Amino acid sequence: MNLDNSDNIIEVKNLYKIYTIGENKVRALNGVDFCIKRGEFVAVVGQSGSGKSTLLNMLAGLEKPTKGQVIIAGEHIENKNEAGLVMFRQKHVGFIFQSYNLLQNMDAVENVAMPLVFRGEDKEIREMKARRMLKQVGLAKYLDHRPGQMSGGQQQRVGIARALVVNPEIIFADEPTGNLDSNTSLEVMHLMQNISRKKNQTIVMVTHDDYLAGFADKIIRILDGKVIDIKINERKDPVETPKEETPKEEPKEETEEITAEKTDNAETAEQESTQA
Ligand SMILES: Nc1ncnc2c1ncn2[C@@H]1O[C@H](COP(=O)(O)OP(=O)(O)O)[C@@H](O)[C@H]1O
Ligand SMILES: [Mg+2]
Repeated sequence: MNLDNSDNIIEVKNLYKIYTIGENKVRALNGVDFCIKRGEFVAVVGQSGSGKSTLLNMLAGLEKPTKGQVIIAGEHIENKNEAGLVMFRQKHVGFIFQSYNLLQNMDAVENVAMPLVFRGEDKEIREMKARRMLKQVGLAKYLDHRPGQMSGGQQQRVGIARALVVNPEIIFADEPTGNLDSNTSLEVMHLMQNISRKKNQTIVMVTHDDYLAGFADKIIRILDGKVIDIKINERKDPVETPKEETPKEEPKEETEEITAEKTDNAETAEQESTQA
């Protein structure tokens, strides 16, 4: 038996978050413990008000816990100051938002390239990486489209590409399909599955939807700020995502999509792009 827990990228120990409003105390997190392994796709599921967003904010260091520990990639998040947290997030984390949070007067490439600005990369390199990422999420034909010229599902793919472009170890997503219809939500779930499988990136997704949680490798169920169940899902083969984004008559893309079923090593895309 392997007692070494070094493959845990996230460890949460005895975590509490208590909000005080006037004389009332809300125990948003009421003693939470769990571990997440590198490359796992984890769903945190629970009804509205159960503490999911609070938990995600603690993991990302966006809020300070009242008590307890959050250890990510060996570092204690709860002890870091604001500057340390900013550095930690830039180094390790990508975010996917329910409302996409795209800049409306920028096209898809500019939106996806944005996180690289803060890393001091040259414009040419930024946009090359952004184009590569957009192709991988099936948006090769939408590179110069602005958010207003895309469907909700396409906008969320741009949001996912933006989270992935810095090649983060961990991706946090809070209700990423909350604004999408059920078919589009399925496509986004397949995309998330394929990201964790092909790129070995860790995904922590918050959802109130049991069906969507079923796409994850591990389901952490919370109620009233407590973990009430942790379930491991057998990995099923991801279903092919329909590729209606690429018209038939167009030449084949050089970059392998993450949405494609056949696994390809990520280096192929890497090599092609650097040669381009
Ligand atoms: N900033 C805050 N101040 C006071 N109470 C809060 C705050 N954020 C969340 N809460 C409360 O904490 C509980 C958990 O909220 P939240 O984590 O947003 O739940 P979920 O994301 O599962 O819907 C709720 O009772 C909510 O009202
Ligand atoms: Mg929430």
